Amino acid sequence: MNAPHPAPPRLTAPEDEARRLDAADPGHRHLFHVPPADGGRYPEAAYLAGNSLGLQPLATRDELLADLDAWGRLGVEGHLEARRPWLPYHELLTEPAARLVGALPAETVVMNSLTVNLHLLMVSFYRPAGRRTRIVIEDSAFPSDSYAVRSQARFHGLDPDETVVRLRPRPGEDTLRTEDVTGYLAAEGDRVALVLLGGVNYLTGELLDVPAITAAGRAVGAIVGWDLAHAAGNVPLRLHDWDVDFAAWCSYKYLNSGPGALAGAFVHERHLGDPTLQRFEGWWSTEAATRFEMTPVSRPPATVEAWQISNPPIFSMGPVRTSLELFDTVGMTALRERSLRLTGYLERLLDEVTAGRPLTVLTPRDPARRGCQLSVRIGAGSAAELAKRLRHEHGVIADAREPDVVRFAPVPLYSTFHDCWRVAEALAATVAEVAR
Ligand SMILES: Cc1ncc(COP(=O)(O)O)c(C=O)c1O
Repeated sequence: MNAPHPAPPRLTAPEDEARRLDAADPGHRHLFHVPPADGGRYPEAAYLAGNSLGLQPLATRDELLADLDAWGRLGVEGHLEARRPWLPYHELLTEPAARLVGALPAETVVMNSLTVNLHLLMVSFYRPAGRRTRIVIEDSAFPSDSYAVRSQARFHGLDPDETVVRLRPRPGEDTLRTEDVTGYLAAEGDRVALVLLGGVNYLTGELLDVPAITAAGRAVGAIVGWDLAHAAGNVPLRLHDWDVDFAAWCSYKYLNSGPGALAGAFVHERHLGDPTLQRFEGWWSTEAATRFEMTPVSRPPATVEAWQISNPPIFSMGPVRTSLELFDTVGMTALRERSLRLTGYLERLLDEVTAGRPLTVLTPRDPARRGCQLSVRIGAGSAAELAKRLRHEHGVIADAREPDVVRFAPVPLYSTFHDCWRVAEALAATVAEVAR
């Protein structure tokens, strides 16, 4: 007779503790739709994938329906007569988006999607000349950014393999140190036209030192831009004070504005109204007051709105407005404080689970060097297979990044301590201990 399989070792951290922490620190989950669990013993999913797609705020549906009603009732007159007239609609998003990223309203606009904005900003801010042609990115940059900068190099007739510099962590390390970036800039800065990095890295969850790297890049004469897809709504930002040249971010992750939602763009005040900058233009690039004069030559305003091109998709703007209202109500400072508590708790539980299992947390341990996400590298098996088992056997939704990383993001607006506990319990039950 075969010996029975031993029961998988359980998490020793008590479930009660998670429940108590939630009672004392409930967050704003009640304002969101939480998907039902696809497996396991709880009715709702433990949703840890808000770094990929944020959950739907309850308020979004009514907002969208009101915009549809306005179109039905008013037709074209909605441009001026809708409850929120469509012509200046984007202006409603400007101030809350500016507050979120620490920018002046004149520096902030919501438009297009993220990679499109990065391209439009690079049209202005990637101007290779003489020896200064290089673009510095992280080796673990999101592929879209990598493709974008390579295509920008080609657009300027340059060889992307020579032009794009991919900074790698030191051997044996998983994340970049600030000195790895500033050291490169100090050594090679006169060759660098553009530094374009992720504020929070999509794979490792590392939060880079945005002000220090921006200062180092600018000191050597480079332009410094940031992809803030994983930073906006996740960590406090002060783009204006940090002297960032430009930035862009999406709204479908931490900003909960729906799949493919509109993106944000920031251009520092010092560049606004600069007639020497190249920009691609359309009728939304010209001053609003003269837009309908139908003149052949544009008169762009001295704001980042000069980077707009087309009239915006109104049905995509309502969800962003609703979401930004929520950020204004709760405030990034309070969210960051709760985020530190949630992620610190998840880290403590993962310490127990990873000990003795082929799992390693890649994200820096210093809370100042990360947002809410913790990334786990698995030493055996496929990350996609693990994510599938977590979902179907435990109702835990996380996402896999091939070949070997599973990412868990306790989002301070709606994630709970119990969600974190469920992640750790599910990993403990799913990933076998290695013999010691
Ligand atoms: C860091 C980062 N940059 C760029 C993108 C691409 O965004 P979009 O499809 O909105 O251009 C993503 C998408 O997840 C991302 O995570």
